Amino acid sequence: MEMDTRVGGNYGLRDEIKAYWSTRAETFDLSPGHEIFSDDELAAWRSLIVKHLGKGEGRRALDLASGTGVISHVMDGLGFEVTGLDWAEPMLEKARLKAKARKRPIQFRMADVESTMEPDNHHDVIITRHLVWTLVDPAAAFSEWLRVLKPGGKILIVDGDFVNVGRTERMLKALAKGLERLGLLKSDPMHAPPGLAQTHTSIVSRVYFSGGARADLVADLLARSGFTNVTIDTNLREIHKAQSKHWNYLKALARGTQHRFAVSAVKPGG
Ligand SMILES: C[S@@+](CC[C@H](N)C(=O)[O-])C[C@H]1O[C@@H](n2cnc3c(N)ncnc32)[C@H](O)[C@@H]1O
Repeated sequence: MEMDTRVGGNYGLRDEIKAYWSTRAETFDLSPGHEIFSDDELAAWRSLIVKHLGKGEGRRALDLASGTGVISHVMDGLGFEVTGLDWAEPMLEKARLKAKARKRPIQFRMADVESTMEPDNHHDVIITRHLVWTLVDPAAAFSEWLRVLKPGGKILIVDGDFVNVGRTERMLKALAKGLERLGLLKSDPMHAPPGLAQTHTSIVSRVYFSGGARADLVADLLARSGFTNVTIDTNLREIHKAQSKHWNYLKALARGTQHRFAVSAVKPGG
């Protein structure tokens, strides 16, 4: 097991990740790309989900690493019976407050997604957005997810490679920063508090996908974990188009160059 000797023998990478996201909870929803800010974006998410997981119709859905509950609420709106799991209490608090404000019966529980404590063969579908890139042991997680899905149940992973930043993206971001400094370009909403950048880099260098979560690597690991019908979908254009209205044009262009994807798969049987 990995250890962090700075803090003492029992404090490991997983604790660092949990602490990082607990701190990030405060401003998480300010960011386009996290919270959904338009009907167009909501419609685009709904369409991606229905395409891969089908309609809700009261079927049981597990939102893994539900964060502030953004995707749980989309699933709820589609008619799924939703449970969201996350290990960061401040994220869960935000998610629960939203459910209360919207009077929606979504269950949010604290759990490690590598060991969910959910019953065997229980959920019709699993969805998880922006989690897999930060997993310590995705193979263990995928086996666990296979266990809790019903035979024939479907999974949808939405993620991206946030490690390999291409030349065009770097240039666009640098240009945006320069123009923002000169007051020639509107600053974007805060993504993460500046003090956390180093922690983020350090964590990313030690997770399983430290070289970047590429769609083919995720798909391959899903297949090796026992999933079938593994499908890569890189057509997230409608989602990105809707989100881009909330970034300045250079940042929007930069995001468009990133490797972002959805991977769906099925548990055999059913
Ligand atoms: C980038 S956020 C994504 C949140 C949400 N899925 C969304 O897309 O809005 C990553 C989330 O993963 C959670 N997380 C990371 N590893 C986890 C684990 N092993 N078990 C439970 N939650 C985890 C963090 O606490 C954080 O809320």
